[in-house]
Amino acid sequence: MPNKLPVGILGATGIVGQRFIQMLEQHPWFEVTWLAASDRSEGRPYAEAARWRLKTPIPDRVASMNVSPATPDGAPKIIFAALDAAIARELEPKFAEAGHAVVSNSSALRMQSDVPLIIPEVNSDHVALIEKQAWRRSSGGFAVTNPNCSAIGLVMALAPIHRRFGLESVMAVTMQAVSGAGYPGVASLDILGNVIPFIKNEEEKMEEETQKLLGTLNDGGSVVPAPFAMSAQCNRVAVEDGHTESVSVRLKKKAKAEEIVAAWNDFTAEPQQLRLPSAPDRPVVYISASDRPQPRFDCDLGGGMTAAVGRLRPCNVLEWKFTVLSHNTIRGAAGAALLNAELLKAKGYFS
Ligand SMILES: NC(=O)c1ccc[n+]([C@@H]2O[C@H](COP(=O)([O-])OP(=O)(O)OC[C@H]3O[C@@H](n4cnc5c(N)ncnc54)[C@H](OP(=O)(O)O)[C@@H]3O)[C@@H](O)[C@H]2O)c1
Repeated sequence: MPNKLPVGILGATGIVGQRFIQMLEQHPWFEVTWLAASDRSEGRPYAEAARWRLKTPIPDRVASMNVSPATPDGAPKIIFAALDAAIARELEPKFAEAGHAVVSNSSALRMQSDVPLIIPEVNSDHVALIEKQAWRRSSGGFAVTNPNCSAIGLVMALAPIHRRFGLESVMAVTMQAVSGAGYPGVASLDILGNVIPFIKNEEEKMEEETQKLLGTLNDGGSVVPAPFAMSAQCNRVAVEDGHTESVSVRLKKKAKAEEIVAAWNDFTAEPQQLRLPSAPDRPVVYISASDRPQPRFDCDLGGGMTAAVGRLRPCNVLEWKFTVLSHNTIRGAAGAALLNAELLKAKGYFS
């Protein structure tokens, strides 16, 4: 496949790394040529090192690839990174400094002022921040990030209504799947028959990332956070995949329910216009059945890249309330980074 761009995966053996491998198997533009993980996995064939948790088999070509050390030597130019934040904070800058394009999932660099935090349908213009990065000037390398898995579904639902009616305040309560904690993640005895009302740093990430994502890029080349009030409460629940969120909003302009639903259903953006391979036809879909969306039935909508919204109704405290669901390891992680990489390629950052 001589025309495909070689890509590497840092953290290839983890839950998100596995999704990258699955989503890249038939990708028309990118081909996995390099896999890296911790010392535990280094030097072993991938199929031996990874405890594969997905329902499709490990692609044959990948199964026999050896896991490389997590250093830039010999790594391809484009790196998808799926590392724990503490390790990412140390390794991602090393790859960017060595001239690699780091397309990251972790929170390590998301809030750094010169690092774009991107949902391609929402704020593709923020990629211009790349030019502010010292790595870009010294080696050509750079870093781009996608949001936290619960911020992404929320922002996809908020963006169309923020554009039409303006947001004044937002409250979101999450019910987050166990796969969001990686593998092995939360112990079964802690989560079965239970709800855990705490996910470390998650509420802070949701609040600050939402405002950066919906913020505006100013002339000086930095993002001014969106000014609405925002509060998040995060819970871990015994669901395998799919983060569900109960959201209440107060809008700046008066809106009717059908106008809000139309804002969601009509929403398309640059990824759809550019026909990026991983872009869903419809990024947001409103489901009118009164008991949906549900993770079991709706989190694979649009190949896991669509945010499903439902239950729009008046709120007696704010103004409107609704439910949003998104797939946490696809739209919330590997699929998000893949779409970011496709956007970067379409904008000429890989030539
Ligand atoms: N799961 C989700 O839904 C989700 C969604 C959005 C964002 N994220 C973020 O994505 C990142 C990865 O999450 P995950 O759920 O895939 O975690 P995970 O299942 O725990 O996987 C972690 C990966 O990092 C590797 N690793 C650990 N220590 C390392 C080291 N010192 N050097 C190099 N590699 C090392 C592991 O390799 P070994 O197998 O060799 O230990 C494994 O490949 C995290 O930052 C997470 O917050 C996750």
